Amino acid sequence: MFKLAVFVSGRGSNLKAIVSQIKSGNLTAEVAAVVSNKENCGAIEFAKKENISAYVVSENKEGTKKTYKELLELFKQQNINLIVLAGFLKKIPNDFVKAFQDKIINIHPALLPSFGGKGMYGINVHRAVFNSSAKVSGATVHFVDEIYDNGKIIDQICVDISNVESPEEIAEKVLKAEHELLPRVISNFVHNKIKLKNNRVYLS
Ligand code: GRF
Repeated sequence: MFKLAVFVSGRGSNLKAIVSQIKSGNLTAEVAAVVSNKENCGAIEFAKKENISAYVVSENKEGTKKTYKELLELFKQQNINLIVLAGFLKKIPNDFVKAFQDKIINIHPALLPSFGGKGMYGINVHRAVFNSSAKVSGATVHFVDEIYDNGKIIDQICVDISNVESPEEIAEKVLKAEHELLPRVISNFVHNKIKLKNNRVYLS
């Protein structure tokens, strides 16, 4: 079975979308672990309810929390195939990124390479998009490298925002699109359809 570790910091609607696609048989994968930097958040509560192993990560050893080094060992032992950042707000340490090169993906709620980078998360992104008067927004799934929102783009989805009246309205439309995009990208990984060629990512 293709094994996922999903990193979260908030309400976990993308995690729920993944689990829902697995349950309905559209995604042949297993969420083997959920990791958060927060002990209490919607995503962690959901993971516990679903009997998914949930871990809290911290940079330094602290009580029952796991360090990135411990998670690295654990994921290697468990043969985790893909790490999915789904609303994880902390920067992943470089050593961890290197250890899972091309095996960590992130979903960003805008069309990268615009509206990304440090501080561009949550409503900040949608506010910037709204203020730019852009007519389309969307979501991007990309590989994670050492720089925020910088890795190669794997797939994107667009939404028409020509008539929206608030950043919140954009957020709502984009989130719905994210729930379609992320399980689709994961499924392409499961079926080994993501290929690197000419320094670009292709879906074969
Ligand atoms: C999503 O908009 C995602 O793109 C961003 O953080 C948000 C997480 O939402 N990285 P949720 O916790 O999955 O509901």
